[in-house]
Amino acid sequence: MTVIELKNNKFQKLYPINLGVNEIGHLTISGFDTAELVKKYGTPLYVIDEATFGYNADEYLNSLKKYYSNFLVLYAAKAFACKKIFRLANEIGLGLDVVSGGELYTAIKSDFNLKNIYFHGNNKSQEEIQLAVKNNVGRIVCDNFYELELLQKIAKNENKVLEILIRLTPGIECHTHEYIKTGHLDSKFGFDLEYLDEVLNLITKDSKNLLLKGFHSHIGSQIFEIEPFSDSVEILLDQFQYVKEKYKIELAELNIGGGIGISYTKEDDPIPIDEWAKVTTNTIKQKCKKLDLNLPKLICEPGRSLIAPSGITIYKVGSIKQVPNGRKFVSVDGGMADNPRPITYQAKYTAVVANKMNSKELENVTIAGRYCETGDILIKDIELPKIIHGDLITVFGTGAYNYSMSSNYNLVSRPACILVNNGKSEIIIERETYDDLILKQK
Ligand code: LLP
Repeated sequence: MTVIELKNNKFQKLYPINLGVNEIGHLTISGFDTAELVKKYGTPLYVIDEATFGYNADEYLNSLKKYYSNFLVLYAAKAFACKKIFRLANEIGLGLDVVSGGELYTAIKSDFNLKNIYFHGNNKSQEEIQLAVKNNVGRIVCDNFYELELLQKIAKNENKVLEILIRLTPGIECHTHEYIKTGHLDSKFGFDLEYLDEVLNLITKDSKNLLLKGFHSHIGSQIFEIEPFSDSVEILLDQFQYVKEKYKIELAELNIGGGIGISYTKEDDPIPIDEWAKVTTNTIKQKCKKLDLNLPKLICEPGRSLIAPSGITIYKVGSIKQVPNGRKFVSVDGGMADNPRPITYQAKYTAVVANKMNSKELENVTIAGRYCETGDILIKDIELPKIIHGDLITVFGTGAYNYSMSSNYNLVSRPACILVNNGKSEIIIERETYDDLILKQK
């Protein structure tokens, strides 16, 4: 087996780490011929490479270990939430960021170490918070005044002391290639800094049941710059110092959210995790020294950068349409319902024809989905080998925000998801059947 130019650059994790091409020109992942996987499991097929997930997690753990002693890396469940991935994350020693009762319930059913669960969300319901409190999850990240009240009430009723973080909006707005600092962020998430006294008063004066452990902020997703992370750290630590001085509380936890970008195409240029870890922890150390603060426990919550490059989606080509003097549309058996990112965010992806990896004759095509929407286009204008009905198109970087954002639009069943590792393939999510589609219908 040769490793073709699908090899990742040093920092550009566009592909799973165990990708190759076999002697008959088929794409392989973790040693498996993708065409054989398709024969066994059908299409469309989500494939997650366990080794890549572990590799990405190690990058976070090892680089943070190099520069900082007290930290916890949480896997942001929203990127891909299912029992098996939660179990893997737990085994690796990651914590979990959950944002709903459903994600929390799945974590409980995966025997996740509940102490390492952080419960986020801007509109958690009373029932969801109760589920978290009853199960003694590690932290609840309080987002707003309504929730603060709810937490106090529930904690009192349950006669428990809840360890909470407060989510702040530090006024940093990130786009993929630029960021701005504003006084106020026009965001539905978190407390504006000017409400800090009100929050602290509520926590310190009115409740014996809430214990403030620290602050949280998440400045965005798919970020390619380090500065906004450092700026956010500095702003949060300024609040640490303010709270220390005014309220005599030394906060112990600094949660800086997730957001590190990945490569979806060769043009993308993400931050090396090691550099991010070095710069961010340096900023913390310097700032704490300057403000005379103890070094807090550092918490981060990557989702995409852990799981996206681990995942590929394999589709089968059906109809092919040549518009006279126009585009050639190659339709696959999936699309916007299994990967809503192109239609939602105009996200770009990279693909290959998995059964024609050595084919040299290329043509420009547009990969269309099967759903009844003109905008259901997975990749516009891509150079691929000449495609015929039955060919297998593989899209890379689909591990994050694909399955977790999938739908049953047009009442099409969700694909199966398999995990591959070391010569083993296993179904981690079954393909939905027609009966699954009508299960809840009366
Ligand atoms: N922590 C918090 C509080 C978040 O809101 C998020 C993502 C993360 C961590 C993880 O961020 P990541 O490392 O994955 O960038 N559906 C969109 C992404 C939405 C992200 C929402 N929050 C997409 O497909 O691009």
